Amino acid sequence: MNRRDAFKKIGIASIALSTAGILIPSLGNSQDMPAGKLIINRQKMSFADPENPTDFELKHTPEITFLDSDDNGFTKMKIHIGSKGIVHPTEENHWIDYLKIYSNDKLVAFTEFENGPIRGYAEYFVKLKKGDVVLVEAGCNLHGIWTNTATF
Ligand SMILES: [Fe+2]
Repeated sequence: MNRRDAFKKIGIASIALSTAGILIPSLGNSQDMPAGKLIINRQKMSFADPENPTDFELKHTPEITFLDSDDNGFTKMKIHIGSKGIVHPTEENHWIDYLKIYSNDKLVAFTEFENGPIRGYAEYFVKLKKGDVVLVEAGCNLHGIWTNTATF
């Protein structure tokens, strides 16, 4: 087996295990990553007490803000991780690595963020009508998958 095939097999195994919500230390093959440091956690998370979310929970919760709409029905929507002024950090090997945006359960956007100097923030123009439900899913590579919804 050559080196490229070995990397492919490692990547496939990591994806399969991470989908199951298992913490996986990387084998450290990336030049950008120190050996054994990268963890991908794909466990779905929720608030222990929805009435009293902790700072840790708020730090991972997507904050959804609807802004202006244009004449064609597209609404500018701002997504920030986290909520209520608590910002999710971006540190080496700990960052918001993706956002997914759903409108009425239909995936409309999937954005990945590299491990580097970028925070969990994005703006989109989404075609929305009154009553549409937007769900945002944010992945923290260390602390799992967090969601929030907002009705337009
Ligand atoms: Fe985190």
